[in-house]
Amino acid sequence: MLNLIDHALKSPLARILSWPHTPESYLELLAPKVGGKGIKATVKAVRQETNRAVSLVLEPNHRWPGHIPGQYVTLGVSLNGRRHSRCFTISGLEHGCPVVTIQSHEGGTVSCWANESVWSGDTVELSAPAGDFVLPSPRPDRFLFIAGGSGITPIRALTDQLVAENYSGQIDILYYTPGLQDTIFLEVLQDIARTHPNIKLHLVNTRDTSKKLHGHFSATHLKAIGADLSQSAAYVCGPAGLIAAVETHWQKAGVAERLTLERFQAVQAPVAADAAALPVQFTESGITTTAPGRTLLEAAEGAGLSPNNGCRQGICRTCTCRKLAGQVRDIRTGELSGSGEEDIAICVSVPVTPVTIEL
Ligand SMILES: Cc1cc2nc3c(=O)[nH]c(=O)nc-3n(C[C@H](O)[C@H](O)[C@H](O)COP(=O)(O)OP(=O)(O)OC[C@H]3O[C@@H](n4cnc5c(N)ncnc54)[C@H](O)[C@@H]3O)c2cc1C
Ligand code: FES
Repeated sequence: MLNLIDHALKSPLARILSWPHTPESYLELLAPKVGGKGIKATVKAVRQETNRAVSLVLEPNHRWPGHIPGQYVTLGVSLNGRRHSRCFTISGLEHGCPVVTIQSHEGGTVSCWANESVWSGDTVELSAPAGDFVLPSPRPDRFLFIAGGSGITPIRALTDQLVAENYSGQIDILYYTPGLQDTIFLEVLQDIARTHPNIKLHLVNTRDTSKKLHGHFSATHLKAIGADLSQSAAYVCGPAGLIAAVETHWQKAGVAERLTLERFQAVQAPVAADAAALPVQFTESGITTTAPGRTLLEAAEGAGLSPNNGCRQGICRTCTCRKLAGQVRDIRTGELSGSGEEDIAICVSVPVTPVTIEL
């Protein structure tokens, strides 16, 4: 039925009748969850996980394509008349509805909205699921999952998947938090470990030195839990410091290829000093602006455009645009692009010559 609606909206008659607007915009007014072109979802339930984290159960419309455990979505919300997009891992499914679990950051636009102002019945926009923090096939004999803070969300999704398929190999979950009060999914994880002898939960308290496992990631923790780096598929997700320490350890051990990582936050260098007032031409919209000290995404937004974006950190590629001419610098690595046509992530690109972008 809903696919028929999509079909009808695209018909020439619907376009003529709705002129000068689009058929989708009328339907969006009448039925917010069905109208528009993208995936919309209703917040079906809000559940407090910790004092600083909530799970939102989302009921998407018919355009939701399904996901692979470990993937994330870009969630779009309108706050005070401005659209904000952020990536969130799908931490699980409840009665077929995807769930996102969001930990608040001080002053964080979307994470604070989710923790303080969201209501059941609110409508949000979703991207199609993306990401490759997923389980390998065939499954190895051992998994070592390392998480910090909200980085437990994809680890929970992967663990649930292994439990659902009766995986019989060994799973170790090494989870870093400042204390039990900030340990997301504590009871669920404890319950899984209690009922599955092959799954071990190792909680590390990053602050309380009286705990057996405490402090930030170190080789001592791996030794204490009997980790076998050469035999395990290792996955890490969490704060930048945790990921960097784990990555370095795996590299030194010569097993970097056995490590899969998911970053929630990119390490960014300040915008390069050469981001002078160079002209930036957006061809589709016919706008020319300048981007002094700003990324091309910020320049586009400053000029009144609303390009697709998600992480705003060069991770999710949602903002990818075709650069038709000119050279840009990647603010994370300082690397210069070529000067010809290519796809670039505009959220981490600053111009170093006049540039032309298909937007
Ligand atoms: C692929 C991917 C999956 C993600 N999955 C989840 C998830 O499942 N659950 C979850 O809670 N978050 C997740 N995130 C992080 C999330 O997208 C946002 O970055 C985070 O919620 C902060 O957004 P905000 O709008 O509240 O903060 P902003 O308004 O963007 O920033 C406010 C302040 O918070 C700081 N900040 C922003 N992002 C982070 C961060 N990730 N870590 C620490 N400080 C930050 C900023 O430097 C700034 O000082 C994911 C990110 C990515 C890229
Ligand atoms: S918004 Fe995610 S890569 Fe640019």
